[in-house]
Amino acid sequence: MCGIVGYIGKQNAYPILIKGLHRLEYRGYDSSGVALLNGQNKLNVYKAKGRVSDLEESCATKDTLGTVGIAHTRWATHGEPNNVNAHPHYSQSENLALIHNGIIENYAVLKAGLINEGYTFQSETDTEVLIQLIEYVKVSNNVDLYTAVQLALKQVIGAYAIAIIENANPDLIIAARKSSPLAVGIGKDEFFLASDASPIIEYTNKVVYLEDEEIAIIQRDEPLKIVNLNNHEKTPQITKLEMNLSALEKGGYEHFMLKEIFEQPRTLRDCMRGRINVENNNVTLSGIIDHKAKFQNARRILILACGTSWHAGLIGEYLFEEFCRIPVEVEYSSEFRYRHPVIFPDDIVIAISQSGETADTLAAIELAKEAGAFVYGICNVVGSSIPRNTHSGSYTHVGPEIGVASTKAFTAQVTVLTMMALNIAKERGAISQTRYEQTLSELSNVPAKIKEILELNPLIEDLSKTFTYAHNFIYLGRGYSYPIALEGALKLKEISYIHAEGYPAAEMKHGPIALIDQEMPVVVIATHDSTYEKTISNIQEIKARKGRILAIVNKDDDKVRAMADFIIEIPETEECLAPLLSVIPLQLLSYHIAVKKGRDVDMPRNLAKSVTVE
Ligand code: M6R
Repeated sequence: MCGIVGYIGKQNAYPILIKGLHRLEYRGYDSSGVALLNGQNKLNVYKAKGRVSDLEESCATKDTLGTVGIAHTRWATHGEPNNVNAHPHYSQSENLALIHNGIIENYAVLKAGLINEGYTFQSETDTEVLIQLIEYVKVSNNVDLYTAVQLALKQVIGAYAIAIIENANPDLIIAARKSSPLAVGIGKDEFFLASDASPIIEYTNKVVYLEDEEIAIIQRDEPLKIVNLNNHEKTPQITKLEMNLSALEKGGYEHFMLKEIFEQPRTLRDCMRGRINVENNNVTLSGIIDHKAKFQNARRILILACGTSWHAGLIGEYLFEEFCRIPVEVEYSSEFRYRHPVIFPDDIVIAISQSGETADTLAAIELAKEAGAFVYGICNVVGSSIPRNTHSGSYTHVGPEIGVASTKAFTAQVTVLTMMALNIAKERGAISQTRYEQTLSELSNVPAKIKEILELNPLIEDLSKTFTYAHNFIYLGRGYSYPIALEGALKLKEISYIHAEGYPAAEMKHGPIALIDQEMPVVVIATHDSTYEKTISNIQEIKARKGRILAIVNKDDDKVRAMADFIIEIPETEECLAPLLSVIPLQLLSYHIAVKKGRDVDMPRNLAKSVTVE
């Protein structure tokens, strides 16, 4: 969702900004733009609907000189994606230009006030209201840009990450954030600004993450200054980035999604590294050690997440209830935050998010904290907002996930939840030593088993040709496989735009069975588990109605093979770990169907990688 890049230093800003925009493309956007100060009292703003490459094309004949600039990828909220609504937005006098991520909720009231003062608007955006407000405050109070931003932001309700440049002051960028991420990279005689570290990493590994209601005063040849809305200055806290550049490249794969699917044997090892000690058969998570008593005395676990992370949460529910015997509720963050939930001070809230920036999950965390609950974050992006706003947590350590469709982050979330469940179960004495050791040792075998499944890629690619005709899909699973049915369906929807429904297999006969005919592909996860025989009965029900069955089975499965039209064989594992294996062929199936349909797999339409607005 919207991306910000900024540069001030001795180099020409334009190529750095464009490269930065390309790095942020994965977040999802529909238009882009750039503002440059060319050093001759000219503030140039260029914008284009579509891809960053469209912007580059339209800038080819333009003046793109200047050592200071800001640039933006916009994911439309207020007003359709077009050149006028794209950022940056000029102020009325064209002395200021602003880019913005987030939503100004009271923009209509502010706009009405500004219209009364004689301001006119070109776009339908809330962002243009903000820059006009800043100019109005600046002119009417006769103050400098920093003070104007500070005063204007006090009038704003909503979320923002902003960057502003001023024609009259080519040595300055002002940036600020609230509920939307922003990082300042510190180079030698230069500064970078970005929504996340990906545009910064090739120039410097030193970054400062802005906190809510902080303003960065980024001045050429001056140290970075950070001040909050109440004018308190703060010493910038420099974080050293661990990310490497190759993690942001495709490494020979056609798409990031495919690369990320294939990375999973390694990423899961990275996720377990230092946590599972195979020799001692032990698992420790530092985020739990420091809060042992909380976990031991937990009355209930509430899991909050969205999308794929919510599916990981559902598996977490099964794990915690099976192993720890703690009641669990899993909620969409967006529902939780608005439904007056009952939260007890001895609840443990687990917030799961790949990006660590999902606005709904952040808001749900605040609600839980206000009610006195202990909040544990499971996140992938180091230094993102959720880990900084939770009491404790675990990183998934899978490196940047660029494909909009989450794959390696999901399997790592499930792995962290499994390690947590085993650890807490042991601390609470709720699991036998034998079971604990067995599951742990089998968890360590999962990466090798995923590697085996990945060898089926050519077969799955071949199979995908059979299904490109389909307009609808049903995915079925029971027990631990039910969340995987949901996840398989979501993956297909997101990247191929084929309608797909995930269902608990037994629920079929309560409605969806009406949809089954010879045209309907039904993907059934039918691995050897405690509900295997029941799933077979469900398959028979589909078969009787001529549905086309693609079954995910374990090797040497005869019963399902006899009924299914197609099968994909995966290795056996413990029932609770099966989701980590059965999801892999479904990721590959979605990927290949989407490729065959000519979809933009890494940047599917309308979707954003980090959903920073509600
Ligand atoms: O960054 P998060 O894990 O909080 O994101 C939650 C969802 O937006 C995300 O999982 C979304 O559903 C993905 N596109 C799934 O592939």
